[in-house]
Amino acid sequence: MTARSGAGAAITLADVDLFNPDTYVEGVPHHMFKLLRAEAPVFWQRQPDGSGFWALTKYDDVVTVSLDPATFSSGKRGSLLHDPPEEALPVMRSLLINQDPPVHTKYRRLVGKAFTPKVIRQMEAHIRKVTSEIIDRVAPLGECDFVTDVAAELPLQVIVELMGVPLEDRQMVFNWSNRMIGAEDPEYAGSIAMEDARQASLELYMYANRLAVERKNNPRGDIVSSLLQADVDGEALAEPEFDAFFLLLAVAGNETTRNTISGGMLALIEHRDQAERLRRDRSLMPTAVDEMLRWVSPVMQFRRTATRDTEIRGQKVREEDRVVIYYASANRDEEVFPDADVFDVSRAPNDHVAFGPGGPHFCLGANLARLEIRVIFEELLHRLPDIGLAGPIERLRSNFISGIKHMPVRFAPPKEPHRGR
Ligand code: HEM
Repeated sequence: MTARSGAGAAITLADVDLFNPDTYVEGVPHHMFKLLRAEAPVFWQRQPDGSGFWALTKYDDVVTVSLDPATFSSGKRGSLLHDPPEEALPVMRSLLINQDPPVHTKYRRLVGKAFTPKVIRQMEAHIRKVTSEIIDRVAPLGECDFVTDVAAELPLQVIVELMGVPLEDRQMVFNWSNRMIGAEDPEYAGSIAMEDARQASLELYMYANRLAVERKNNPRGDIVSSLLQADVDGEALAEPEFDAFFLLLAVAGNETTRNTISGGMLALIEHRDQAERLRRDRSLMPTAVDEMLRWVSPVMQFRRTATRDTEIRGQKVREEDRVVIYYASANRDEEVFPDADVFDVSRAPNDHVAFGPGGPHFCLGANLARLEIRVIFEELLHRLPDIGLAGPIERLRSNFISGIKHMPVRFAPPKEPHRGR
């Protein structure tokens, strides 16, 4: 089988390169994933340095690997594609996402207190207020950069609120987070921006520590205080655990949500009929949100490391091999999703794996992210219903995050000043 790229040229397995970040600059290479699912669902992806990894592109394999942390470990070498340097392993393992049960189980139970359905429900009013303010700022202008002016603002505002960062410190936290995130674009690898990102993460870490010490001494009945106070089982987060969690949230909850909002907007712009359906029937919003998540799959992959010799679909995988699970491909698997390449705001069922397939690491912020996406689209469709592109979009050059860096848009400024809903 051959597959056609966006430009129409036929490709074969020899052309597949999931490692090279250039592969992603025109968008997610769905033509490569389709070919891999059909011909090489367990594909050895070679890297220029001679190493390589197993690329899994079928839905069922992504699920199997995620549900078997004993064989496919997150703790051994972390969950990012690149191998961390040996000396970085202990720090890396202080992050929840790079741990295995039973260490992970205990830590996850403790931080789960910050993400109960009740806590998340209580965030809705704040999310709507922040969203309104964001739209208020751009609405009279008639045009803006949708990514930097709209989509990027909300996720960070939500995290600082959730973690009880005092108002006067929020700008500092935004700056650190943005400096950390900027360097994930591999264009910056090894550059000054990379060094700057390291410095920013250190400063954020130290800030989190000051916040932890302060709340421990003066508990306020907020999430930070409750994380640091012993629960009914007498367990609490130690300060370094809190600091690492704070840092993880600043990364995990930020770019992912931003890119789902930008990518979801682009999908609505490119599928006018679907946008129209949603505008006419707001009860479709929950299914539309999940379809945006499936469609965008902002986290394209995470990595595991085999803890023993094993087999996947008859392919031998050796201990220490890297195994990379492609959510972005699983979410277009034609064996699971009828008309997988069709964007359908009423799709149901929609068992996408944009948040992972429900193993131990299933996205802790899934309900929060869904809420943010729902609220921002409710407000956008209400107040700026005719958003359209005003120029070419610029994508993130990354083999990890499917992202849009800039998206110029145009819309008719509302005639009436906004009075809230
Ligand atoms: C659209 C937005 C988001 C997407 C697509 C997303 C995606 C993911 C994925 C794929 C994982 C790994 C799942 C697995 O291995 O099974 C994950 C883990 C995680 N996410 Fe999200 N995420 C989003 C938003 C958020 C938000 C808003 C937060 C918090 C404020 C958050 C916090 C986390 C944390 C803490 C983990 C690690 C959980 C663990 O290791 O136990 N995420 N996310």
